[in-house]
Amino acid sequence: MSASSDRVIIFDTTLRDGEQSPGCTMSLSEKILLAHALEGLGVDVMEAGFAAASPGDFEAVNTIAKEVNSIVVTSLARALEQDIEAAAKAIEPAKNKRIHTFLATSPLHMEYKLRKSPAEVLKMIEKAVRFAASCTADVEFSCEDASRSDKIFLVEACEAAIAAGAKTLNIPDTVGYAQPEEYGKLIAHLKEHVKGSENIIFSVHCHNDLGVAVASSLAALKAGARQAEVTVGGIGERAGNASLEELVMALTVRKPYYGLTTNIKTPLIYPTARLLSRIIGQTYARNKPILGANAFAHESGIHQAGVLSNPETYEIMTPASIGLTDNNAIVIGKHSGRSALKSKLDSMGYQLEDAQIDKMMLAIKVLADKKKQIFDEDIEALVVEKVHRVPDKFRLVHLSILSSDIGVPPTCMLVMEKDGKECRHSGFGVGSVDAVFKTICHVCEAKPTIEEYSVNSISGGSDAQGEVFVRLAQNGRVAIGRASDPDVINASAKAFINALNRLAKN
Ligand code: KIV
Ligand code: ZN
Repeated sequence: MSASSDRVIIFDTTLRDGEQSPGCTMSLSEKILLAHALEGLGVDVMEAGFAAASPGDFEAVNTIAKEVNSIVVTSLARALEQDIEAAAKAIEPAKNKRIHTFLATSPLHMEYKLRKSPAEVLKMIEKAVRFAASCTADVEFSCEDASRSDKIFLVEACEAAIAAGAKTLNIPDTVGYAQPEEYGKLIAHLKEHVKGSENIIFSVHCHNDLGVAVASSLAALKAGARQAEVTVGGIGERAGNASLEELVMALTVRKPYYGLTTNIKTPLIYPTARLLSRIIGQTYARNKPILGANAFAHESGIHQAGVLSNPETYEIMTPASIGLTDNNAIVIGKHSGRSALKSKLDSMGYQLEDAQIDKMMLAIKVLADKKKQIFDEDIEALVVEKVHRVPDKFRLVHLSILSSDIGVPPTCMLVMEKDGKECRHSGFGVGSVDAVFKTICHVCEAKPTIEEYSVNSISGGSDAQGEVFVRLAQNGRVAIGRASDPDVINASAKAFINALNRLAKN
């Protein structure tokens, strides 16, 4: 792809900048699952993690580098030799690889964070990019906090990176400070003044602190940037990053305005975002563009009448264009065979190994005994829960609840496994869920704060699976738990235990 082409490179950083945000931590197998979904979605570059950050991050980048085929895999690295070495080693197995190294260029960051002079920073950029370029031909350099950097110095920093071998220059709005028009002008300025800019791709990476990350990214693309760094659902540090789905759909719906294309298969946007939501245990706000439950809902009579006579009156894109369909035909049930399940899973983008399909067969049969219809959402929940769940320290064996309206407090009787040993306990609570959580805490010797607890119905009907999300905090760490079960009390207990397991693992 060249700097002058109409094609925008979609650089997905859900697994790095997204995963970095509190409560969005993913296990290795969850990252792999999402990596395959992102590859299927058609992202061009996948930032799989920050290899030098921890052995777990290294393993994640390295495993994803082995797993994905058609796209570029990159690891973030500070402008330090040991970070770049770790990144190079982690991405080594990838067919297409990139090292993404960065250093701050704003006066504030240089003085207070790096404690380096501008001249020292230029030298570090030169050295880091040259070293990265000796490891792999494809090097991206990011001027961290670029939007608050001095423009003259930013030009020098970009030129130093180009001279040392960078092929992509990322100009992050690290703190979400820039305004769209201003940010577009910054890109135009760099394109005009940076020597050698015609041979490199300018990339944009906007945070959403003032709610304009997507608008700024679009303004920058209009001004000539050709790579956008985004995350699914906009997850990321603080207020998040620019949302992949919003940016891509703006380019798609307003194609005549932007004149730009991407490789994203837009009907896979919704399934990918739903998978992410299930993995991190967070739902999208109802009014969130593209993904929110209300994004395609028409409430007022006037709107409904308009949409009925012509959907274009109030719909600028169809639900189907982002993969939101009513196509919930029941194809999988109690009597479905292994090959039917495998082809269903394949069609949903899950390539499971034989042993994993065996687990799914078993889980489907158990679920089919409790529930009449099995929807795609149920299958997805089981894939995440049964196949990609982190190995557990705590496990629920049996739960029974007594609840009455004659003044006896709800009572929970619990049998659990803790490090493989069976424990029994019973306890009371203000309500059934409270009794369950308190009893579990006693058995697990945990004292978390419950920051969030929500119950959703996965599919329609009173026999729908209840999907529970909990967000727990303990000793400064945050973990999300999720579980689904036709019984919401069981789902609550499992989600709570799932979060405790994540806290125990962190
Ligand atoms: O926000 C930022 O500046 C970053 C860089 C490391 C690219 O995430
Ligand atoms: Zn960022």
